[in-house]
Amino acid sequence: MASCFRYMPTYPARINLNRKPLGVIGTALLARRNVLELIPEIAVRQPMVSGRTGARWHMVMDPDALRIVLKDRVDDYPKSLVTQLILEPAIGKSLFVAEGAHWRWQRRAAAPAFAQRNVEALAPVMTAAAEASSRRLAQGGVVDVFAETVAATFDVISDVTFSGDEGFDRDAVHGAIDAYIAGAARVSVLDIMGLPRWIPRPGRLASGGDLRRMKQVADDAIRARARSGPRGVPDLLDLLRAGEDPETHRSMTGAELRDNLLTFIVAGHETTALTLAWALYLLAFDPEVQHRAAAEAGAVLGARAATAADVPRLTYIRQIVDEALRLYPPAAFLSRTSRIHDRLGGREVWPGDTIVLPIYALHRHHMLWDDPDSFDPDRFAPGVQRDRFAFLPFGAGPRICIGASFALQEAVIILATLVARLRFQLTDRHPEPRMILTLRPHGGVWLRVEPRA
Ligand code: HEM
Repeated sequence: MASCFRYMPTYPARINLNRKPLGVIGTALLARRNVLELIPEIAVRQPMVSGRTGARWHMVMDPDALRIVLKDRVDDYPKSLVTQLILEPAIGKSLFVAEGAHWRWQRRAAAPAFAQRNVEALAPVMTAAAEASSRRLAQGGVVDVFAETVAATFDVISDVTFSGDEGFDRDAVHGAIDAYIAGAARVSVLDIMGLPRWIPRPGRLASGGDLRRMKQVADDAIRARARSGPRGVPDLLDLLRAGEDPETHRSMTGAELRDNLLTFIVAGHETTALTLAWALYLLAFDPEVQHRAAAEAGAVLGARAATAADVPRLTYIRQIVDEALRLYPPAAFLSRTSRIHDRLGGREVWPGDTIVLPIYALHRHHMLWDDPDSFDPDRFAPGVQRDRFAFLPFGAGPRICIGASFALQEAVIILATLVARLRFQLTDRHPEPRMILTLRPHGGVWLRVEPRA
């Protein structure tokens, strides 16, 4: 007789962290499958783990050492060479990869575009995307919600970067970025761990043509905007065109505008889609949390889709977004290269060492979180104290994500609208966290979706 009890695991999807020492070959093999499996189990129990796979590396989970690398001595720990090698072909020396003076002036020029007032002004695009997404999902059935959230966040980012109808070919840009990330990620992992060159790398990207096309589309849109002038409600292109370095009064050239706008698309769209997809999975995993979330969203919104004005009242939805970012940080690994001789967490660091910041392990560290693998949005209830450097989904210090408030506003607006109108249930297909540049649900997030009565 079939059992009427469904097996409910205690913990949502997680990685079996590695308990065996890995040699060079073992590292290479695992890296091909899933970088997250390279994290040794002791990384969620010890403040630092060091090793050598070709190059010397240190995994840092100690909040005080993280503060040094990300904030206090940021110039001594620039972004790793690997980060630059992977991203430069797509986004040039834009904000994300630049260092020193070239980074500083771009950050100053772009900052006003991401100021709270502008982020709020961009919210109607997010509300419209939430409305469209909930309409699509209301058809019900078993759906890969990750594919849905990717569609929703791509609508948002392409609308707020190039909002005009200037022949901006969204599909071409979307396709090129996806192909690029898939190719770039595989190359990167082996390099991050400093594996020797004789380990074969998968062929360099076959997407050179896609990249050229993507840049062409963006360049055409920028030239068209220069002719037509700004929109009524300025989008990111208008804001960036108007931006200038407050010190030198220099503004961005066409190529710099293009590289930065493409950076916003690359950095901002899949990361937010992942946050939403993992959050929906977690809500399906815990029906009680979902019930509470739906009650809050229903009370605040009624039948409306959420707007920027609702965000401050959607506090429990925000807690769920934070908890999803803790358990499944889209940027699960950051890396830096040391420029100096230093001591971090009592260990000696040499110039050229790779500093790995495994945010996934930090967020599940037993010294920093109670029962770290469990899903509990009340960890983020107002008033709960924690070390600033124990929760780093957006990084920290001067290189903190410039789009953090944009992403959080978008995630809260879309999640609240969806959960107020729809119910999500697990199916037999469980997502497996895998890192391919970002932390993705391998196989998708398949949930049963039905409209709420
Ligand atoms: C949930 C969504 C997002 C997550 C988890 C995320 C995560 C991050 C992280 C961890 C960094 C720091 C990287 C490092 O220190 O090595 C970063 C930087 C950055 N992010 Fe985001 N991001 C998100 C959304 C966005 C959005 C929406 C945009 C733009 C529209 C954006 C644009 C950028 C840029 C330009 C940088 C580089 C900033 C600099 O170096 O000055 N991100 N992001």
